[in-house]
Amino acid sequence: MDIRVKTGKLTRQPADALVVGLFEGEKRLSGEITELDKALEGAIAQSIKQERLTGKLSESEIFYSVGALSASLIAVIGLGKKNEFTKDKLRGAIAGLCRTLRQKKAYSIAIQPLGAGVGKVTTADASQAITEGAILGLYTFRRHITKKPEYKEVKEITIVSTSAHTSVIKSGIEKGRILSEACILARDMVNEPSNYMAPADIARIARDIASQHKLDLTILEKDEMAKLGMGGVLSVSQGSCQKPKFILLSYTGRTAQTVDLALVGKGVTFDSGGISIKPSDGMGDMKGDMAGAASVIAAMSAIVQLKPSLNVTAVVAAVENMPSGCAYKPGDVVKTMNGKTIEVITTDAEGRITLADALSYVNAKIKAKNIIDVATLTGACVVALGHVCSAVFTNKQELADRVLAASKKAGELSWQMPMFEEYKEQNKSDVADIKNTGGRPGGAITAAQFLAEFAGGTPWVHMDIAGVDLSDKEHGYLVKGATGIPVRTLVNLALDMAQK
Ligand code: BES
Ligand code: MN
Ligand code: ZN
Repeated sequence: MDIRVKTGKLTRQPADALVVGLFEGEKRLSGEITELDKALEGAIAQSIKQERLTGKLSESEIFYSVGALSASLIAVIGLGKKNEFTKDKLRGAIAGLCRTLRQKKAYSIAIQPLGAGVGKVTTADASQAITEGAILGLYTFRRHITKKPEYKEVKEITIVSTSAHTSVIKSGIEKGRILSEACILARDMVNEPSNYMAPADIARIARDIASQHKLDLTILEKDEMAKLGMGGVLSVSQGSCQKPKFILLSYTGRTAQTVDLALVGKGVTFDSGGISIKPSDGMGDMKGDMAGAASVIAAMSAIVQLKPSLNVTAVVAAVENMPSGCAYKPGDVVKTMNGKTIEVITTDAEGRITLADALSYVNAKIKAKNIIDVATLTGACVVALGHVCSAVFTNKQELADRVLAASKKAGELSWQMPMFEEYKEQNKSDVADIKNTGGRPGGAITAAQFLAEFAGGTPWVHMDIAGVDLSDKEHGYLVKGATGIPVRTLVNLALDMAQK
């Protein structure tokens, strides 16, 4: 899909559909909507009068034009209350509208930079939000469906404006495109079934991104991991026929040798639970247990294009968690790269074991100044926060504040959880340094406390995305399946950290 900017009048655009916005309670029409209303012989005004068209957020009405206009569809999209307008609302409304227009066979859409200048929303913001809404809302994953879809893809979206605004609109579109394409890369990786997205496939994608964007790539194989003492990654992967891959993808945005930010992603390409096998209902969703890995790798593809002046390395221990005659077992004790030992209570708490080695590696070899890890870590997180927001945990409040701000900016909700010392008690083992589950109470927190042991003194934030990596319904810019959360948060964070 091509998204571009054009100067001129909306009403003159040679597109299948023209889009204008209406705020809630707006009774008097102005500007180009008046012209469209005239061409439609007052149909818009009538619709408002009869309260079919209310301007409520995301509510739209489509008018069919005959003769007077080159476009055959005129869409009026509700933008909600003017004093509550944000770019998140615009992103969601545009997504829904684009899906409706695709259904109505509009392949080219011309739109105004809706809501530009309202509240804190700038023209660049509006253009970015329209771009993100369109690309993310029209996303589908049909790679394995051989039948053609009933609809055709929307080919182009033109943001129409006065010449004074074209350069800011262009930059808004460009930023929106980079962020959305990264988000879609993550969605594609998560949606892909595990027989197409094994550890080697994640490594292949990282390699492709590295060569496309000139990033540094290192992939450690099993024997190198053994040499480094990564008993955690190796134990989790040993039940599977899929070889583990330890992936490092680096972006250098400034000359210093130090890595400013390490992005660590949980990369369990399928989590059967291992010997502590999961119930079969819904087990297929565990193809998405590499959403953290997908997010950090996808974020790198955007960061390299947006060029912030800081150094970022993505780190992924990609493994498959399977039961077999070779599998690790409950009761086993495994030794991680930093020398700490873990008692395996359940082989289904595998993510934290792999992350223990990844975090140890970051501290020993990369010596990053800040660490963010992203993981579909616990069912307990889903119980606590549902499917609405990610959980944020930290050992350094300033870093958490930055993550929370970046997430707010992206419109990807997150909520900070406590890290009280008292929770640590539950992770104590009788036979090793720590055990891999603290039981059901506060399960997301004890999992975070476990990771904190391996983050050590480095400023660190853990994002548990177990509830938000997949969506079971279409909702605004989200469609069914993978969400691509928190790719845009991570990219915003990198941009923000480069500025201060
Ligand atoms: N990958 C799961 C967590 C998960 C659950 C992600 C639901 C997405 C949706 C993780 O590896 C896991 O199995 N966690 C266990 C830990 C428990 C055994 C301590 C859980 O949460 O049940
Ligand atoms: Mn598990
Ligand atoms: Zn898991």
